[in-house]
Amino acid sequence: MTSPTLPFGSQPPQRVDGPIPGPQSRALVDVLAAHECPAVTARRARRAVAIGASDTDPIVWSDARGANVRDVDGNTYVDLTAGFAVALLGHRDPRVVAAITQQADRLLHAMGDAFPDATRVALLARLAALAPVDADGTRLDVAMLGLSGADAVDIAVRTARLATGRPGVIVFDGGYHGLALGVLGLQAYKPSFTDPFRDTTHPFVRTLPWGAPMQTVRDALADGEVGLVLVEPLQGRGGMRVPAPGWLAELAQTTRAHGALVGFDEIQCGLGRTGAWWEGPAQGAAPDLLCTGKALGGGLPLSACLGTRRVMDAWGASQWEAIATQTFLGHPLGCAAGIAALDALVEDDMPTHATQRGARLVQALADVGIATRGRGLMLAAEVGPGAYGVCRRLLDAGWIVLPAGSQDDALALTPPAVLTDAQIEGFARAVQAAIR
Ligand SMILES: Cc1ncc(COP(=O)(O)O)c(C=O)c1O
Repeated sequence: MTSPTLPFGSQPPQRVDGPIPGPQSRALVDVLAAHECPAVTARRARRAVAIGASDTDPIVWSDARGANVRDVDGNTYVDLTAGFAVALLGHRDPRVVAAITQQADRLLHAMGDAFPDATRVALLARLAALAPVDADGTRLDVAMLGLSGADAVDIAVRTARLATGRPGVIVFDGGYHGLALGVLGLQAYKPSFTDPFRDTTHPFVRTLPWGAPMQTVRDALADGEVGLVLVEPLQGRGGMRVPAPGWLAELAQTTRAHGALVGFDEIQCGLGRTGAWWEGPAQGAAPDLLCTGKALGGGLPLSACLGTRRVMDAWGASQWEAIATQTFLGHPLGCAAGIAALDALVEDDMPTHATQRGARLVQALADVGIATRGRGLMLAAEVGPGAYGVCRRLLDAGWIVLPAGSQDDALALTPPAVLTDAQIEGFARAVQAAIR
């Protein structure tokens, strides 16, 4: 049995002094506004003005440990986002930090596709050992590494194109797969993200309803032009939506029967967060390609697209200059952090641990009358209309939370698995108080 708080033990409660954001945060955000592209950091966002918030400037983070984050004004928060679902092990897990420190003493940068380093080799072997199997029972033990989730999805799209010879991709309403240009056209979370660039995005994407009937899927696959059906087995940014029992398995079978590849985007839901190492296989569905990221790097940017030998061989062998690479491919610091993160996830038995912590969180919220959806530590708390305002009031009280989906009626909860009982109980009471 794992301890709920490994390896951090007790953590300080949230403590906020004075208005949020404090003066130091405010001053830094002024500098940001002067020197950063305005599309990045929200100040007086329309949504916030609508809820009557006088100020939507962010707090500026200073340091973090476990489930706690501190801002530059010295306020302490409890982070229910794990920094976009990255810090599943907790912020600055000591095992990951030690690995990064040791690696920094040895080698910071190698040469991607030209000259590998030993950490990349070890990481790929670790990933292969954890990889799921396809419908034939063949392990997805061949990977291409990236730095972001978008990189991994980009590789999946290109792999499917090469392996099937078909250009088309099917995605699902509410799906989110990153915003780099190669994958931007695949997101169906908010059309407004893609609209300004529509004429330069992937030309052959079909978006089906989430949970589409199989006849609709068959119709979309019928012309034989689709090479990849890409789906989040538990849809994250789109609102923490769990498919109906059996839907994903049927989707995978139907896709295969039409000669297309099944791609699972497990960038957010994989690696134990939902209570299984991989969410798709836990629902009885087998992938041909699987994308992972976020928690994989233990806090450093690292992602991967996994496939079977047969599928990944569609790329052909490198002819000295790789056709898919980047300067920082297999970055030694990221790979060292990734090895430590994978080892720590295994050591902590993360699927079991996330199941137990998630159940406790669900119960605490139910006790104050708040329903949840999702699995493990990938949840949405259904707070009703005005979720954005609830998030802002929670921040004022020392809890970092984001809204779930685009309906403004739920909170996304993807906390670090080291959340303590006291933090869980405190959070449930805080949500109750923040709902108006
Ligand atoms: C399911 C899923 N896929 C892809 C991405 C994109 O990852 P990144 O922001 O690292 O490019 C995200 C990010 O939230 C995600 O949740």
